[in-house]
Amino acid sequence: MSFPDGFLWGASTAAHQTEGNNVASDWWAWEHTVPASPARTPSGDACDSYHRYAEDMRLLADAGLNGYRFSIEWARIEPEEGEISRAEIDHYRRMVDTCLSFGLNPVVTLHHFTQPRWFTADGGWLNAKAVDRFARYVDAAAPVIASDVDYVCTINEPNFAALMQTMFSHPDDPGSWGRAGTPLPDPQVAEALTDAHHRAVDQVRALGPKAGWTIATQAYQAVGGADAVLDEYAWPRERYFLDQSRGDDFVGVQAYSRNLIGPDGPLPVPDGARTTLAGLEYWPDALAEGIDLAWRLAGGIPVLVTENGIATADDNLRIDYTADAIRGMQRQIEAGVDVRAYLHWSALDNYEWGRYEPTFGLIAVDRATFRRTPKPSLAWLGNVARSNGATLTRTA
Ligand code: BGC
Repeated sequence: MSFPDGFLWGASTAAHQTEGNNVASDWWAWEHTVPASPARTPSGDACDSYHRYAEDMRLLADAGLNGYRFSIEWARIEPEEGEISRAEIDHYRRMVDTCLSFGLNPVVTLHHFTQPRWFTADGGWLNAKAVDRFARYVDAAAPVIASDVDYVCTINEPNFAALMQTMFSHPDDPGSWGRAGTPLPDPQVAEALTDAHHRAVDQVRALGPKAGWTIATQAYQAVGGADAVLDEYAWPRERYFLDQSRGDDFVGVQAYSRNLIGPDGPLPVPDGARTTLAGLEYWPDALAEGIDLAWRLAGGIPVLVTENGIATADDNLRIDYTADAIRGMQRQIEAGVDVRAYLHWSALDNYEWGRYEPTFGLIAVDRATFRRTPKPSLAWLGNVARSNGATLTRTA
């Protein structure tokens, strides 16, 4: 197997999940003030990547990877409304420069689920000022991305970001969003996120980088002739957002598992199916399906795989899953899809939105000392990268 020249092979993280002490964000507040929420464990120091990012990047580069996707944190850059921290902007620019110095192509995400607490306390995306507020933040962040950055992701998984508004508005009723399937994203939130995205695409392009957003593709599959139910279910949760990517410079595909839809709606993971530590069905073909759907719905714009991975304590299983997912990606490339990057989720075992147990990392992190221990999967993915996809076999 071989991949297009210049293909990006890398790993992804997000600020709140790795930096630690993101105290001005809404998630930090939520972790501490709502005991009924599923955020059972606060994020705390996370992986201390706020201070140790250079070590993280060096491990990825030494293994052979050539790309790194990370997010910058709005709550640090604008901890109170209108108060922009120049020091934090400099911090994130240092991250970009450090990435470049290791030969890693930085893929920068502007919004990965978390927001300043003042923004959420004031209605979040339901506030009429939300889109202007996000645009002001994007302008403030310009020095981070204005040079030597090829790809900027505006908003991570708007389809799930819209659900977070539901979680925050119904904190005492996890049952309303914790059953099989996912709640309906609030349409007003979805619209505000879409407006903010389109505006950010223009802002980012004016600075130079290519702009797009990243969508959680769900590999919905109809069971028992439920095709019409699937279409209705999938549109507001996934397909609307892919459709809104038309005209962008790229679309990010994030794929983990499949979701079965029966005549009465979403179905639980089938009895006896192999599941991951995140409770998802083991389904590496989710990536090929996500790429195919994104290519068709977004109108043939380039695809970056911005997340794909598995929560498991069995690193051989991680390699097997990833190899199969990459084979599926290769089939899509052969079928004519313009795929430019594979960025594995995740570089590190990190804060999985309320807990640390689902380990997605290529690198283990000691929770007491922050010591990083690369897993065999990192060396394996590095070899895949060095051979530009030719070597997918697990050797140990
Ligand atoms: C998110 C990540 C998350 C990952 C694994 C994606 O939905 O963008 O933040 O950790 O999936 O669950």
